[in-house]
Formats: sequence, C-alpha cells, structure tokens
Amino acid sequence: MTIKIIGTGIGLPSREFSNDELIELTGLDSSNEWIVSKSGIDSRYLCVTETLTDLATAAAEQALADAGLGAKEIDYILIGTLGGEYCSPSLACAVAERIGATSPAVDLNAGCVGFIYCLDTAAALISAGRAKNVLIIGAEKMSAHSDWTDRGTCVLFGDGAAACVVTAGTMLKYIQIRSAPDTQVLNIPEDMSGNWPLAGPKPADTFVHMDGPAVFKRAVTMVGREVQDALTATGLAPEEIDFYLLHQANRRIIDSAIKRLEQSPDRFPMNIQRHGNVSGASIPLLLHQLRVEGKVEPGQTHLLCAFGSGMTVGTCLWVWE
Ligand code: UT7
Repeated sequence: MTIKIIGTGIGLPSREFSNDELIELTGLDSSNEWIVSKSGIDSRYLCVTETLTDLATAAAEQALADAGLGAKEIDYILIGTLGGEYCSPSLACAVAERIGATSPAVDLNAGCVGFIYCLDTAAALISAGRAKNVLIIGAEKMSAHSDWTDRGTCVLFGDGAAACVVTAGTMLKYIQIRSAPDTQVLNIPEDMSGNWPLAGPKPADTFVHMDGPAVFKRAVTMVGREVQDALTATGLAPEEIDFYLLHQANRRIIDSAIKRLEQSPDRFPMNIQRHGNVSGASIPLLLHQLRVEGKVEPGQTHLLCAFGSGMTVGTCLWVWE
C-alpha cells in the first residue's frame, strides 16, 4: 500500500493522578484495589491548566521535528477526537493556527478508533495524489467528558494527544475500518437545544454514559474477530506479529486476546497502567513510547486494533519501515 510513518510525538498534561489521589480528590466510593483489578489502571494524566489544543500542538510539533518537516510542508491535518475547545472551528484548525500550517484541517469523530480512521483517510489522500505529507493526531480531553460522580466510568479515562506524520511508502499492508452501530451502549449526549425557544428537553447531562459490561463483551468479540480477519487477509500466523498494539481500554480485554492467540504477553505492550484509556490517542501514544524505548525496528510487523463508541472498530497491519 501507500504510506509510511516518518515521525511521532506526544503531548501530555503535567499532572499524573494515582488511583488513591483521584479517590481523595473526588470523594468517590472506590478503591485502588478495585480499579487495578478491574481495569489494570494505576494512574492517568489529567489536564489541570492545559487545553486540548496545547496537548495536540505539543504532539504535532514533536512529530514534525521527528520527521524533519516544517508545518508548511504538511498537506492535510486530521485529528481523531471527540472535539476541542470549540464546537467550531475544529481542533485541527486550532492546531493549524498554533503551528503555522495552512493546509486543510479537519476533525474525525470515531470515538476511540479515531487514529485508525485518520490513518485510513491519510492513506486514501496520499494514494489519490491529493496529499504528500499528512499530520494525523489522536487527541482527547476525557476529563472534560467524564462525570466525576460516576465511579463506573470516570476512573477509566485519561487525557493526552499523540501525532504521526504520514507520507508515501510501503509500510501499510492491511487496513479495515467498520462500524456496528449502537448509539446507546456508550455515548456522550450533546445539548443541541441552545436557546431556541421551541427546543425540546435538554439532555440530563453531557457526560460519558457507558454500559461497561456490555461494551466489555462486545470489545472482546470484536477484537478477536478483527485480529483474525487481519491475519487471514495477510496470510500471517499469530506468532509472526512482533507487536499487537491494541486499544488500551481495559487490561482484561487485552489479556483475553493474549489468551486466545496463545502468544507471549511481551508481544502486547501496554500503557494503560499509567495513562488509562486515552481514547483515540491511546495507540499512537503507545507507538511513540515504544519508539522512544528503542523497541520499534524496521522489518517488525505490528497489528493495531481499536474499538469505541459508535460502535466503531478499526484494524491495521504494517511492517515498520
Ligand atoms: O474505550 C471505550 C470502551 N470502553 C471499554 O472498553 C470499557 C469496557 N468495560 C469495562 O472495562 C468494565 O465493564 C468496567 C471496568 C467498566 C467495569 O468492570 P465490570 O467487571 O464490568 O464491573 P461492573 O460494571 O459489573 O460493576 C461491578 C461492581 C458494581 O457493584 P455491584 O452492583 O456489584 O454492587 C459496581 O457498582 O463494581 C461496582 N463499581 C465500582 N466499585 C468500586 C463500579 N465502578 C466502581 C469503582 N470502584 N470505580
């Protein structure tokens, strides 16, 4: 296929909160033991003074420096996000303004699969000759969407951004994005009534609502099926994948994939312990961290799979160039 990644970068809030600190701050009826045993999360980064534009801009600048490109050499900016400071303009436009880019800039809302949806769009733009270099970013300020009185959801999420610069290459061997629409199992209501005098009732709140056990079951099934589809389509055996970069939503979902594929846990790197679920930023954040640790080498095969509200799902397989 038509792309390769030539630069990565991340942007994180300065404050990291342990489970105990979070419980103390919010007064939640919870415990470190429950959160760790149910999700695998020890701590997460949450914005205190930073905006999502700050995080996404930091990630973008780091990825551009890594790629050796200036903002004017970017032909398209795509951000997988639930949204930034404004309903309009997009977070992508806010980042373009900050880095001094003048390319098209647009957000894609695909829940936690935003990064893979952006990658698919970037591949299409590059293969169609519409762009040479595309900046893709996963960026989420989940602290703004969480209900800090709902112990079943708020402890799971973190804030952060991660960026990749994508250009023409031969790295991508398989990419598949899909949806299995169900708007009720995981959603964030939006107040669309404004001050229109004849508007219907406002939603009770605009926070994350999730049927955790239902999402968990679907995620396990989806990841199993999508990973198998990618292996079948590429003719690869599970042991030929060097790293499975799976969405970091719950350690137990990743553990179920390890068990099903009968592979060493070393092939399933995780950052959920320190970041929680950073939605669309979770996989590119993990990729950047592996690169910084010197674990990513040319010729390695990586299989990425994410699921999220929609429900959306996306899978890709690449051989790192
Ligand atoms: O990227 C978005 C996709 N999201 C996901 O993938 C999340 C998928 N779901 C999950 O990860 C899990 O369902 C959770 C971690 C959210 C919950 O784990 P669970 O094993 O499904 O627990 P549960 O929701 O069935 O709750 C079990 C108990 C309940 O108490 P009762 O009714 O048994 O008395 C909850 O009220 O745990 C209680 N509980 C908590 N207790 C302490 C829920 N949250 C907490 C908490 N601390 N933070």
